[in-house]
Amino acid sequence: MTPHGRYNKSMRIGPFTLRNRLVLAPMAGVTDRPFRQLCKQLGAGLAVSEMVSSNSLLWGSEKTRRRADHCGEVEPKSVQIAGADPRMMAEAARYNADQGAQIIDINMGCPAKKVCNVLAGSALLRDEALVARILEAVVAAVEVPVTLKIRTGWDKASRNGVRIARLAEAAGAQALAVHGRTRACGYTGEAEYDTIAAIKAAVAIPVVANGDITDPEKARRVLEHTGADAVMIGRAAQGRPWIFREIEHYLATGRLLPEPEVDEIRDVMIGHLINLYSFYGEHTGVRVARKHISWYSKGQPGGAVFRNTINRVEGAEQQLAMTREFFDRLAAGEELAA
Ligand SMILES: Cc1cc2nc3c(=O)[nH]c(=O)nc-3n(C[C@H](O)[C@H](O)[C@H](O)COP(=O)(O)O)c2cc1C
Repeated sequence: MTPHGRYNKSMRIGPFTLRNRLVLAPMAGVTDRPFRQLCKQLGAGLAVSEMVSSNSLLWGSEKTRRRADHCGEVEPKSVQIAGADPRMMAEAARYNADQGAQIIDINMGCPAKKVCNVLAGSALLRDEALVARILEAVVAAVEVPVTLKIRTGWDKASRNGVRIARLAEAAGAQALAVHGRTRACGYTGEAEYDTIAAIKAAVAIPVVANGDITDPEKARRVLEHTGADAVMIGRAAQGRPWIFREIEHYLATGRLLPEPEVDEIRDVMIGHLINLYSFYGEHTGVRVARKHISWYSKGQPGGAVFRNTINRVEGAEQQLAMTREFFDRLAAGEELAA
């Protein structure tokens, strides 16, 4: 094995062998089909869709239909569901598998108020018996592999991640993603990886390490420290979908790729915007595009002035033209007002 060979592995989830060990984290409002496709194109081995509620009353809504739309997406297609009622979760899993989900991921890692108030997401970590019942019900309901996403525990005093991992494995989960924070931590402080290492050592199913992985070197350090089978990247992929290519290259060779050139960023972004318009339609597409444009232009000279202007634009044609113009001027090396 080459010195880097041990990092340059792939990961298996049930019958699927991923192309590498890099996963795009599920992010509500971000990891829609256009963004998942882009990240997969740029090196993500797996991209988990935004969460779908287990409340069947919502399944007919346009939002949920869009979230369950995987047309043309690179396989395997993983869909996240959230909820606290085992029977409803089983039904949601079945529904999504019927719609083409090839992996069902259960969200017990998200601290969002909307989710926690109804005892779902990471709030479930407090009730281990219920976690087991949900997993057993979902695993029994579908043929496809079921995976689970958790935090390290409810709060620092009750970091029960290892117990949850063991019961998830016993209930038939086929992989586990762990965000290195407790529910109580929200997004504050630094993610810690010791609990993830302990979880990896406690179970035989693949473990995915998540939290604050921002660059290729950190990805390798986290893999090394935790022994995890893969890393999952969320916020660092916003406006930087090529981070997967960068990590993949570094894990394979031990060398860092140069930053993408401005004209490549422009082309990736233009393609992304066009896909957003066609996925959402112009009205919603322009609005969804705004946050991506902000992320892509963050740190670019003149980015703040550009964002201020483009956020007021209502039409796709104008949004596209202004974006192209901004990046063309950057590529030409023009001095733009900060
Ligand atoms: C905007 C946003 C939306 C998120 N939505 C979800 C979600 O729907 N389901 C989930 O399990 N986690 C969700 N998360 C948590 C991420 O999947 C991930 O665990 C967290 O951001 C830590 O990883 P990072 O440091 O790489 O961003 C969300 C995070 C962000 C920033």
